[in-house]
Amino acid sequence: MIPPMRPVIVAGNWKMHTTPADAAELARTMEARTRVPGVTRVLCPPFVCLAPVRDALAGQNVGVGAQDVHHHLGGAFTGDISAPMLRDLATWVIVGHSERRRYHHETNEMVAEKVARAIENGLRPILCVGEELEVREEGAHVAEALVADQVMDALQPTTGEALATSGLVIAYEPIWAIGTGRNASGADAAAMAQAIRRAVDAASGDSIGLRGADTPVLYGGSVTGANIDQFFAEAEIDGALVGGASLKPDEMAAIVARAGLTAAARGLAPARS
Ligand code: 13P
Repeated sequence: MIPPMRPVIVAGNWKMHTTPADAAELARTMEARTRVPGVTRVLCPPFVCLAPVRDALAGQNVGVGAQDVHHHLGGAFTGDISAPMLRDLATWVIVGHSERRRYHHETNEMVAEKVARAIENGLRPILCVGEELEVREEGAHVAEALVADQVMDALQPTTGEALATSGLVIAYEPIWAIGTGRNASGADAAAMAQAIRRAVDAASGDSIGLRGADTPVLYGGSVTGANIDQFFAEAEIDGALVGGASLKPDEMAAIVARAGLTAAARGLAPARS
């Protein structure tokens, strides 16, 4: 079996921050501060900032992602945005973020439909999964079982072949770690990444589907330049989905610099002498 060669990815989720007037400048600053060989960079601004950020990053090696996509292709859904609308604006899309699940009552079934709509329209999904604090407190195995179910439910309606070529990325974001300043440990995140990969394999079955070993798994939840090291120290973790710190150039520079060391160690970038 060919050993996996997974990319190293740092994605910034700007959430409901920035405006069309200031997003382009922030994107340019972030791009200039994070030029590190071998690291896949992605910025996910609010919908209304996608066009200015796309234009600001034209010709640069930074992906642009939306923060959500509707599970229908079109129709009477006031205020929503469908996958075909995003095609010229973004190449990535965050799906199933816990803030969408919590504040917009998104179910696993809706998340699964969103993954399918994204893939059908050529958008690369960053599927977010993660457990609540009460679940984590019941034990790591309980949390891993819940997250594995989230993964399997989300991948269920998409055929193996489409999944295998989708570039799907999974972000493990424990809900209790998001915006709280309290992060999971590198070891816990690595154990969860293994559970996630087993779930991908289970969802794919024996067929031509996506292999867990080939699926990049990111950690997200209070990632900063100060705590990123413990995640990249884990071979199971392929990067970070960064919230608050993704609006701060010094923080993103530190996070991506650390990602570059892992990229070099994996042979994705020339090692520095
Ligand atoms: P914070 O990094 O602000 O905790 O947010 C994480 C997150 O939700 C990224 O999608």
